[in-house]
Amino acid sequence: MKPEYRPHRPTGPALGRPEDKLRPVPIADMDPGLRRDGANGKGPVTSDRLAQRRASLSQSDGETGWRPSCPPSRRAAIAAGVGLLAAPRLALADEEDAKRERPQTGDVLVKIGAVDTAPLKAADLPLGGPQVLAWPMDPASKTVRDGSRLNKVLLLRLDPAGFDTATKARAADGVVAYSAICPHTGCEVALWLAATQRLECPCHFSQYDPKIGAAVVGGPTPRPLPALPLKTADGRLVVAKPFTGRPGFQQT
Ligand code: FES
Repeated sequence: MKPEYRPHRPTGPALGRPEDKLRPVPIADMDPGLRRDGANGKGPVTSDRLAQRRASLSQSDGETGWRPSCPPSRRAAIAAGVGLLAAPRLALADEEDAKRERPQTGDVLVKIGAVDTAPLKAADLPLGGPQVLAWPMDPASKTVRDGSRLNKVLLLRLDPAGFDTATKARAADGVVAYSAICPHTGCEVALWLAATQRLECPCHFSQYDPKIGAAVVGGPTPRPLPALPLKTADGRLVVAKPFTGRPGFQQT
């Protein structure tokens, strides 16, 4: 037997009629996402909603309306924590910078290799040489500026009668100070030729005359040793001015 054909008829109110399309749907029956009465937070702006919005913005950034995701007290605590962690590292970085800084006006000089850091006096140096190697030291913080070999200073105590005018002006109690680094290729000017009263670099035998501004008197070096002007204070040798030139050698 052939099955009876029955067209599908939707149950409930008939659709498609003009009166169904125009009939208003009660708000309570609407999908909350479609409601425009303000109950879903997206409705029209009323004076109440405006007041609510202003109240929320009063806790936010005045310029952008950005609201912090955590309360100010927590942010302050986090910032303080970060500050506490960073402080020792910053202090360490400052100290490293101070150690690498070139000799500063007012620095005292301490003997390299000495067990203590007593500032040197002219009387601590042998009259007539040889040279003594020293580091500058900040007398206030006691920071020895040994963070760079370019800060190595050689000190010589000589009879100032043989000094030229510029060297006399830079000397203190017959003590002259120069960079200990040879401008040729950076070796240490470690030798003292007592007979001729000259400084000599052991690498390629460049020679310098300390009585006339460490002028070049032999060897391949391109320029004199930079001088470090000195003065005395309370009997101690003190840096009067920075190096007269750049210490070290320049690569070409
Ligand atoms: S490095 Fe001093 S003479 Fe060459």
